[in-house]
Amino acid sequence: MSESEIIRIFDTTLRDGEQSPGCSMNLSEKLALARQLERLGVDVIEAGFPIASEGDFESVRAVAQEVRNTSICGLARTGSADIERAAQALEGAASPRIHTFIATSDIHMDHKLRMGREQVLAEVDRAVRQARGHCDDVEFSAEDATRSDRDFLVQVFSVAIEAGASTLNVPDTVGYTQPEEFADLIRFLRAQVPGAEKVVFAVHCHNDLGVAVANSLAAVCAGARQVECTLNGIGERAGNTSMEEVVMAVKTRPDVFAGLDTNIRTTEIYPASRMLASIIGVPVPPNKAVVGDNAFAHEAGIHQDGVLKAAITYEIMTPQSIGRPSNELVMGKHSGRHAFHERLKELGFDLEGEEFQLAFRRFKDLADKKKTIFNEDIEAIVADSVIREDDRFAVEEISVHSGTFAKPTATVGLRIDGEAMKATALGVGPVDAVFKAIADLTDTKSELLRFQVNAITGGMDAQGEVFVTVSQDGRRVIGHGADPDIIVASAKAYVHALNKLAWHKRRRAVAGPRGI
Ligand code: KIV
Ligand code: ZN
Repeated sequence: MSESEIIRIFDTTLRDGEQSPGCSMNLSEKLALARQLERLGVDVIEAGFPIASEGDFESVRAVAQEVRNTSICGLARTGSADIERAAQALEGAASPRIHTFIATSDIHMDHKLRMGREQVLAEVDRAVRQARGHCDDVEFSAEDATRSDRDFLVQVFSVAIEAGASTLNVPDTVGYTQPEEFADLIRFLRAQVPGAEKVVFAVHCHNDLGVAVANSLAAVCAGARQVECTLNGIGERAGNTSMEEVVMAVKTRPDVFAGLDTNIRTTEIYPASRMLASIIGVPVPPNKAVVGDNAFAHEAGIHQDGVLKAAITYEIMTPQSIGRPSNELVMGKHSGRHAFHERLKELGFDLEGEEFQLAFRRFKDLADKKKTIFNEDIEAIVADSVIREDDRFAVEEISVHSGTFAKPTATVGLRIDGEAMKATALGVGPVDAVFKAIADLTDTKSELLRFQVNAITGGMDAQGEVFVTVSQDGRRVIGHGADPDIIVASAKAYVHALNKLAWHKRRRAVAGPRGI
């Protein structure tokens, strides 16, 4: 298949996705995800917005230095300092891309930028030329393109091409457009922009009206050849275009997307989706297309009967095609190091050295308590075993006393900045007592907004999985923890959230507030 028939997948999970509430990641988490995106075969990883903060700069730099087989992109407004910062962060990249953007709708130009059209055109020209001074691969985005005047968009894009941009992005920033209207805009731009045949048209859709994927696919049919998207569709407000849905639509309907394909290794989709969910602690809704728990579950009797007779009756794609491993292959206490390593690989995790040893020890401990270990259990073990060098706090021991007659009391041992510390607290229940002891030890004053506990798998001996949403100083984060004992899982989840808050506090101290 020739290059022109490939739809490039531009992944912005680490930038537009990470920016959304509760989805923030620290440096080691971003690196782990970037490695998985490389395995997945995405064409471009947008690793962050380097001028936004020191943390963003460092993450883009680290991803650029480590990931060699994918283009690494840094976002920049059109200001000169933004472009320089992005170029600096991308210095070590094998294949760097600078992505510069400015709003082009009258609404944004009047109310946000306070710039006239001529000024915006001049910005585009200068920014793209400056970016081209640093690398050959420059993308230009017309923010709020779908609410921009069409003839002005033509002017903006022709200036960007003249200045040297090779990818032109048409974002539906506010998730406003509808599929046929969006396809029409792409056809119009491809026909009207001078030099359109020399560049790739990209689309970047938000899901405010629930049609981000439909809009992206309609744009592909109209000639767009780069789709900007995120894993699990995370992103600002209602999210971005969901990568797995776009990729599997193209794969499953070759009759509709005739002659088109992506470079994605679809068997890495499920591991990537699970890895993201366990890193950010935001579960995938069970009915989410392609990667949700129920996406391949046939519950209705008529459906089950049909699938048993011939899978094609109700199954348009197979779980294997997205790398969803079968839970029939359970593991237990007799499974050895090699089998565990193989299973980790199947699930998309490449733990080595100390991390692998830690995960294997946790697996053995769990297997002593629980007869069968499912893939979900292994994912929870991995989430706990990834060494987060930037974590300040770690749970060392928990003991609680509670019941019908006892006043709930918890003693918690934490390691704080490397030092072992212990505290005891009373609470209205054992979880409350544990959280109070942790808050005392860490000297934090966060507010617990949400507490959710699920059983990771079926069975009386299932592990408990806890998600907590915690907020402090206007920043909201989600923490995740798993353990056969739900009190311990709760402590891990709370400490995970406090580590994220501590990380943001350090990041803010260096850079001030972020945002586009
Ligand atoms: O939604 C948007 O317009 C963006 C741009 C920066 C591409 O994220
Ligand atoms: Zn966006």
